[in-house]
Amino acid sequence: MKSMEQARTGEATLDLVAFSNPLAAEIFGLDLSLQLNENIICAIRDAWLQYPVLVIRGQTLTPERQLAFAGRFGALQRHTVTELLHPEYPDILVLSNTGRGGAAPSDNGGAYWHSDITYEDIPPMGSILHGLKVPPTDGDTLFADMTAAYETLDQATKSQIDGVNAIHSYRHRYQTMMDAGVRPQKTNEEMARWIEVSHPIARTHPETQKKAIYVNEGFTARVDGLVAEESSALLAKLYAHSISDQFIYRHHWQTGDVIMWDNRCTMHCATPYDPSYERSMHRATIRGSRPI
Ligand code: OGA
Ligand code: MN
Repeated sequence: MKSMEQARTGEATLDLVAFSNPLAAEIFGLDLSLQLNENIICAIRDAWLQYPVLVIRGQTLTPERQLAFAGRFGALQRHTVTELLHPEYPDILVLSNTGRGGAAPSDNGGAYWHSDITYEDIPPMGSILHGLKVPPTDGDTLFADMTAAYETLDQATKSQIDGVNAIHSYRHRYQTMMDAGVRPQKTNEEMARWIEVSHPIARTHPETQKKAIYVNEGFTARVDGLVAEESSALLAKLYAHSISDQFIYRHHWQTGDVIMWDNRCTMHCATPYDPSYERSMHRATIRGSRPI
């Protein structure tokens, strides 16, 4: 951890400690189950732009309260994998190896590098994940700073991706997981719902105006306009660079943690754990804008 800072907006002051990787910071002294006043929400919004991964520990949030908190940052986005939705609160995505609360059990939901739902035309700006029950060791989540990754690309690669789009789709990812037996069978018709969409490889953050790499091994199918080998080579180079150690924050979960991340300028990846332990999380997802 670095130094204690105070992020001040209007009337509100947040107690915030930046981690050694400036991608992430921890906020202290908040109880997210309460109805927070607008000044505090503004201060959190400002901090979130500065630190795209915010950690708030020691929370006990019902689905209702988690959704109410998430709703302060924008409209909610419901996930298309319906069997993973909370049966009573379908805006909550349940990531649980025990199928807690009646959703389908899912092992290692996001155990590959991705930003959430980049396979939709309008991907989410942020996600808010609450750890309800976590293993005592392992099962960490890794986050990568895609702004820093973009800024440290060599000039030739920056020019190579300038103005170029990549194609994203969930179909290939789901097919792989279905074939591995970790997702229920779907018909071709259901699979066809996951269309292909096209986004800039380097997107400009609509609020900070900073550029960030916006391709990920989870959902990016190929670079638009390149033959297969060139496309794979370029994506492999971008992925390898993006997950260099200096861009990574590793989060070790404690029960009660809330992490909110900005999907427009970060990627994340779940890591393995001993499946005899329960690992259950609730995620709320916030709508974004079309990447440009
Ligand atoms: C997610 C996700 C990773 C994890 O909630 O979007 O990818 O470690 N989670 O559970
Ligand atoms: Mn995810």
